[in-house]
Amino acid sequence: MDLNLKGKTAIISGGNKGLGAASAMALAAEGANVFLTARNADDLQSTADEISAAYGVEVGQLALDITDDGAGEKIVEAALGQFENIDILVNAAGAARGGVFHDIEDQVWRDAFELKFLGAVKLTRALVPHMQARKYGRIVNLIGMFGREPAKQALPASAVNAAFMAVNKGLSQIYGGDGIFVNAVDPGPTRSQRILDLFADMAKVNNTTPKELENGFRQQIPIGRLGELDEVARVVTFLASDASGNVNGTVLAVDGGMTKGLF
Ligand SMILES: NC(=O)c1ccc[n+]([C@@H]2O[C@H](COP(=O)([O-])OP(=O)(O)OC[C@H]3O[C@@H](n4cnc5c(N)ncnc54)[C@H](OP(=O)(O)O)[C@@H]3O)[C@@H](O)[C@H]2O)c1
Repeated sequence: MDLNLKGKTAIISGGNKGLGAASAMALAAEGANVFLTARNADDLQSTADEISAAYGVEVGQLALDITDDGAGEKIVEAALGQFENIDILVNAAGAARGGVFHDIEDQVWRDAFELKFLGAVKLTRALVPHMQARKYGRIVNLIGMFGREPAKQALPASAVNAAFMAVNKGLSQIYGGDGIFVNAVDPGPTRSQRILDLFADMAKVNNTTPKELENGFRQQIPIGRLGELDEVARVVTFLASDASGNVNGTVLAVDGGMTKGLF
């Protein structure tokens, strides 16, 4: 299968670790240049170094907090200062704390929306005019299965993901005619620091240990194990590529079959 990614350029938010970094590696492995953004400059530098050394593609980076005003424009400006064109956007910055609904304060809900939902909205909004002018773009949103099947111990994440799915679909309808395809990936529990933190939160709620909680999750996953970062990254890479052809407005689950609903 020809992914046609050689020489293309991707912005990846949350690109310094976890699923964002894994997606950047997978894109770079196919010959795409990558521009990474997240807050931690040291992590950005080490991921950028690792990618350049492994794949010899051009790598750019910008350390910033995506919740800051104007963050979307700053990222796009920096990326276009280094690369002539941006072909791909992977929105992977995100995290939301879990907890008992009654104890979750307003600020936790606000933070959850500010970071993952509004962060992706701001970056997409800033980049889309460039993609429209070129009649080409591939946007891949890392969302999460709790958007389809809310988790009672993680309602802020569930609400953010559901809202993100609505915008993912809406954007695919608005921009499909401009050659901009918008799709999402719904990872099930996938081994990253974020999911380990979430397990720790949920364990407190359930009065158990993170290990016991992980075992409980594994029993709910038909294939009997957590996902690995590169398994999600390969699907992101497919959706970011021309090989995904007629795929627009979908949410692809990469969850070992954990989601029970038909859609
Ligand atoms: N792993 C899973 O099982 C799973 C399942 C479903 C959905 N997801 C979703 O996939 C996405 C990535 O998750 P992950 O598991 O890879 O988590 P992760 O390893 O914690 O990565 C989160 C990324 O977001 C960045 N980030 C956090 N706050 C930021 C801010 N204010 N401004 C800019 N960047 C920020 C982090 O870098 P800095 O801290 O340096 O800023 C990091 O690069 C999230 O939206 C998550 O909800 C993950």
